[in-house]
Amino acid sequence: MEQTLKQFEMLIQEQLRRLQTLDKPKKDFSAMESVTVGIVPGDGIGAEIVPQAERVLNHFLKDELADGRVVLKPIDGLTIENRLARNQSVPSEVLAEIKTCDVLLKGPTTTPNGGSMESANVTLRRELDLYANVRPVVVPEENIDWIFYRENTEGEYVLGSRGIELPGMAVDFKVTTDAGTRRIARAAFDYARQNGKTRVTVVTKANIMKKTDGKFSAICREVAADYPEIATDECYVDIMTANLINPDIRSDFQVVLLPNLYGDIVTDEAAQIQGGVGTAGSANIGNQYAMFEAVHGSAPALMEAGLGEYANPSSILKATAMLLRHIGRSQAAQKLENALQICSAAPTGKADGPTAKEYTEKLLAML
Ligand code: IPM
Ligand code: MG
Repeated sequence: MEQTLKQFEMLIQEQLRRLQTLDKPKKDFSAMESVTVGIVPGDGIGAEIVPQAERVLNHFLKDELADGRVVLKPIDGLTIENRLARNQSVPSEVLAEIKTCDVLLKGPTTTPNGGSMESANVTLRRELDLYANVRPVVVPEENIDWIFYRENTEGEYVLGSRGIELPGMAVDFKVTTDAGTRRIARAAFDYARQNGKTRVTVVTKANIMKKTDGKFSAICREVAADYPEIATDECYVDIMTANLINPDIRSDFQVVLLPNLYGDIVTDEAAQIQGGVGTAGSANIGNQYAMFEAVHGSAPALMEAGLGEYANPSSILKATAMLLRHIGRSQAAQKLENALQICSAAPTGKADGPTAKEYTEKLLAML
């Protein structure tokens, strides 16, 4: 028991120290002479789809790459084999390489089942302080145009692999801070303001998670007061999952602001409404670094069946568009997004359809 209380005290102290580190200055890409984009293939189908995304970057950034305004930097070693061999979720030398970049394009990484090794995603989000997970979902024929701002470093994830086990009992932790909530809320409301959105919906379960979600809700309302032109409403996460499949009201949602775990769950639901998790892109944004990735996993079953080349690159290509916008290439981003909307017949993981490479070639020919 004494041991457990010591452990608890240590965790609380560590979180109080983290609180002091949350305010870093924002990197201004327009003022930078050169932007370094790290290319991290990850595991499984990552090796199939990331090279396709790289081709698209080469297409759009031809001039910038030629004169060094953008540099693509391949980063090896973020593989499940290397992570297991080193017993580190992100091996330290790989993390050091990653930290020399400004933004990352990252393929899916396998999370080992059981054990105590953390997901590489979670480690990177924490190490690079990527506090905003931004996930757009668009279904034009249903008038759906949603963008999710998921808090990406706190909540149930911040101590996710460091819960406490006692005989016959297990305890996990959820941590919500003022500063951590304020910065994600600002990101969501700023996005709304800059993009002519008129509504932000805050999702919590503050009726049950009184302290943590209660704080998230209160801070979001505080931030909302600075954006009087934007309507703010709050929705509990259970009813939100129902609302997203209610055709009478779902197209009214615009910007959705959520704590980490609810954001994880609700964005998979939303992606499925768009056509599956393989169709959604995801941006992880912090003040210093940003990481763009596919929402789906490494698809080991597809690799084992020898069908890796038929993996659908749509998700990583949508993330690539978000990357281009983030580094100030909005026009290229828009072109890529338009092409993705109209270039049908994406790979399905089956040998009777196009490969990731063939699909990307068709897409590039359209541009
Ligand atoms: C996601 C994923 C990750 C998460 C996993 C891979 C750790 O589901 O990006 O949504 O839970 O955040
Ligand atoms: Mg998820």
